Amino acid sequence: MPVITCIDDLKRLHKRHSPKMFYDYCESGSWTEQTFRENTSDFEKIRLRQRVAVNMEGRTTKTQMIGQDVAMPVALAPVGSTGMQRADGEIKAARAAEKFGVPYTLSTMSICSIEDVAEATSTPFWFQLYVMRDAEFVSGLIARAKAANCSALVLTLDLQLLGQRHKDLKNGLTAPPKFTPQTALDLSRRWKWGLEMMGTKRRTFRNIVGHAKGVENLGSLSRWADEQFDPRMNWDWVKRLKDEWGGKLILKGILDADDARMALEVGADAIVVSNHGGRQLDGALSSIRMLPAILDAVGDKVEVHLDSGIRSGQDVLKAIAMGAKGTFIGRAYIYGLGAMGEEGVTKSLEVIHKELDYTMALCGHRDINNVDRDILLVPKNFGGEWE
Ligand SMILES: Cc1cc2nc3c(=O)[nH]c(=O)nc-3n(C[C@H](O)[C@H](O)[C@H](O)COP(=O)(O)O)c2cc1C
Repeated sequence: MPVITCIDDLKRLHKRHSPKMFYDYCESGSWTEQTFRENTSDFEKIRLRQRVAVNMEGRTTKTQMIGQDVAMPVALAPVGSTGMQRADGEIKAARAAEKFGVPYTLSTMSICSIEDVAEATSTPFWFQLYVMRDAEFVSGLIARAKAANCSALVLTLDLQLLGQRHKDLKNGLTAPPKFTPQTALDLSRRWKWGLEMMGTKRRTFRNIVGHAKGVENLGSLSRWADEQFDPRMNWDWVKRLKDEWGGKLILKGILDADDARMALEVGADAIVVSNHGGRQLDGALSSIRMLPAILDAVGDKVEVHLDSGIRSGQDVLKAIAMGAKGTFIGRAYIYGLGAMGEEGVTKSLEVIHKELDYTMALCGHRDINNVDRDILLVPKNFGGEWE
């Protein structure tokens, strides 16, 4: 077993073990990828204050996200096609999260279905909803998430249209992959991935196929998906979906103080400051840069979470110290999954936890709930002055 010391080690293994089209699908942002790059580079600009001669014994990273106990303030973000990175990927990630004591969020665009994940786990997970044109299908998803005892609905608001990722077009991305000379050559080098895939029946979007009208096979699925993300979505729909769901609601994809105020008005339990990991609006500012303005606007009235660009426990600590109540990781656990399956997801959580725990201590704190802005050195004008 290779020695894994950081998330980057898992990323290298993910690249080595997974088919190119799926690694690229994970490791890209939209258009020029400026926002994708800045999500991580902006975290590096924030520094930490070293404190000494403080008792570091008896530390805890335990806290709560939307009233649920978590082993650390980190949830696994919804990631489409996770079951293509590794066979039964969603089940593996959900199991790792359950054992670690952090929430798992299942994407609408997952390979394993809501029912598959519910059957394989015993802790309620969160379900992420995309609003589709087929209203009956959306209501069906909400009913299925309720039946599966999901403990929160994560409604994603930043994907009414799909940002273009050049690599996906060039690679001819589909799930499962279509056989072309290019994919056949690539897959022949990833035989372990292929063997695992042959061993599972879960190889297409199982929340959709057999549930959405007219979607029975891969051909009809790709036609359906292309036209289904609903560009008409608005705040009235959000209110309606909140009522239909009736449980905890997290609004994901808020990157602007005005939208944060709207989220508050519709009664969200939490918001996720997010730019979808740099996969949607290229040119948007990084989430960590936008966080202070959003906290100023709504921070004392609604729980504020953050994702996009987190690759370490130090990044988690920075977001929490700035005022976020929780964080989500996307690629950081997908690298682990692609590298080593369930064990790899656990590894990525362990890496982040240790970094968070030790760094918190070296900043002079023993309890994540007491960490505040005081431990940070933030460049002047970090949020920037933009007209
Ligand atoms: C490969 C990939 C697929 C994603 N699919 C979804 C999705 O289906 N639904 C969703 O709300 N967000 C999706 N996201 C966005 C993540 O939930 C999250 O916002 C993002 O990954 C955070 O950035 P990070 O990867 O830098 O941690 C996806 C992200 C990646 C990398």
